[in-house]
Amino acid sequence: MTDAEPTSNPTPLSGDSSAPRGSASDSAGSGSGDAEGSRSGSSSDSVIGRLVVDRGLATQAEVDAAFAAMRTPAGQIKAFVDILVEGQIVTRRQLARLRAEAESDRTVLRIPGYQMIRKLGAGAMASVYLAKQTSLDRLVAIKILPRRYSGDASFIERFYKEGRAAAKLSDPNIVGAFDVGQVGEQHYFVMEYVDGETVYERIVKFKRLKERDALTIARQVASALKHAHARGFIHRDIKPKNIVMTKGNVAKLADLGLARAMGDKKTAEAERNKAFGTPYYISPEQIRGAIELGPPADIYGLGATLYHMLTGQVPFQGVNPTQVMQHHLSQELTPPDQVAAGISQSTAEIVEMMLKKSPRDRYQNAEELLEDIDLALAGEPLRYANRAMDLAGIATEVEGQAESEMQSSRSTPPKLSGLAIGLIVGLASLCGLLVLLLILKK
Ligand SMILES: Nc1ncnc2c1ncn2[C@@H]1O[C@H](COP(=O)(O)OP(=O)(O)OP(=O)(O)O)[C@@H](O)[C@H]1O
Ligand SMILES: [Mg+2]
Repeated sequence: MTDAEPTSNPTPLSGDSSAPRGSASDSAGSGSGDAEGSRSGSSSDSVIGRLVVDRGLATQAEVDAAFAAMRTPAGQIKAFVDILVEGQIVTRRQLARLRAEAESDRTVLRIPGYQMIRKLGAGAMASVYLAKQTSLDRLVAIKILPRRYSGDASFIERFYKEGRAAAKLSDPNIVGAFDVGQVGEQHYFVMEYVDGETVYERIVKFKRLKERDALTIARQVASALKHAHARGFIHRDIKPKNIVMTKGNVAKLADLGLARAMGDKKTAEAERNKAFGTPYYISPEQIRGAIELGPPADIYGLGATLYHMLTGQVPFQGVNPTQVMQHHLSQELTPPDQVAAGISQSTAEIVEMMLKKSPRDRYQNAEELLEDIDLALAGEPLRYANRAMDLAGIATEVEGQAESEMQSSRSTPPKLSGLAIGLIVGLASLCGLLVLLLILKK
């Protein structure tokens, strides 16, 4: 925890030395000898430029061109936003919405010891900012929770308890938790900054990931889970947006400790009606409100994430969160290899086992899952998923055999299965034994 002075005064982000990284102002006018102001516009233009790109309304090149067009050939300065509207990149209405968003982007809590740099993203419940921890001169990510949590004493207690516990975890595949604290009425969580993109962004970009890449990401997350589970942590919110990939392709699991603090009910409530926040990855036992969750709950979330990476779609869909949850509970899973071509049988079997409705039928722990993923990556037969498939296969085979025997008995002389022969031999020996006993008695 920090010794943060209680103050809830928002600070304009533009007051910080750093303009949004990767924003239009970084690249605008490169090679031009124009004055800074005329090239990149105001910092609010920069934020608008970034939002326009983030929302997919324009490419970075188009935004750069708009910045470059601010100075007219006659030497006058044109407003950046007017260029966007005239170029039909955004409508006035979209612009008004982006402006409101830019405004909330520019104001953020001042947290003693940290210099806020820019907003990294926002989820259903909180916003995450890039900041510099001045004492250690390192970049960190700070999640700022909304004020509405401040009145919830049990939440705050859990938040600090979980935050302290999460800070003890240390694993290359887990986003490190550094600090929890409070400024005025708001609580925040300081964590390791991962300079990269989330798995969700990768899925959006590529639609589907290559099987090997998806398995490798799942393997890294399973390894993170092995570490966390061994220390008593169940993540409870495994999903593509909570896996951040470094530039070197290392998967890092984020938000460990936060989901438990917030509670599943709150998560589902806050996620209601969010385009991608609906409970696409939640396990059936969490939907049923199980109090004691075990490793299989996280294995289910990772299974749904792996399904999404491999097929480009979530395992269960629905018109609203309630329907999605109902489908998790009772709808039969369409095997991933029936949704997308080119998925190996082993991988499909792993995913199916991860997504079994009952936690008892899933991998029981991350170690089992890791073993099967490694076997799949090596092209060898699976140990756990195969076994489950074999038992099911044997049952089907026996049923099928009985069926065909019944049919063939109508037309052809009956054939005896191995099991039946065994039974007859067993019975015959028993009879023999009984006869022998009777003879001896006489
Ligand atoms: N440690 C981090 N380093 C870099 N970026 C991060 C980090 N943590 C979060 N982010 C970014 O901030 C975004 C918002 O994170 P946040 O956890 O608030 O929401 P979410 O996980 O996307 O969704 P939800 O609110 O549904 O959990 C993430 O999608 C990610 O892009
Ligand atoms: Mg998150």
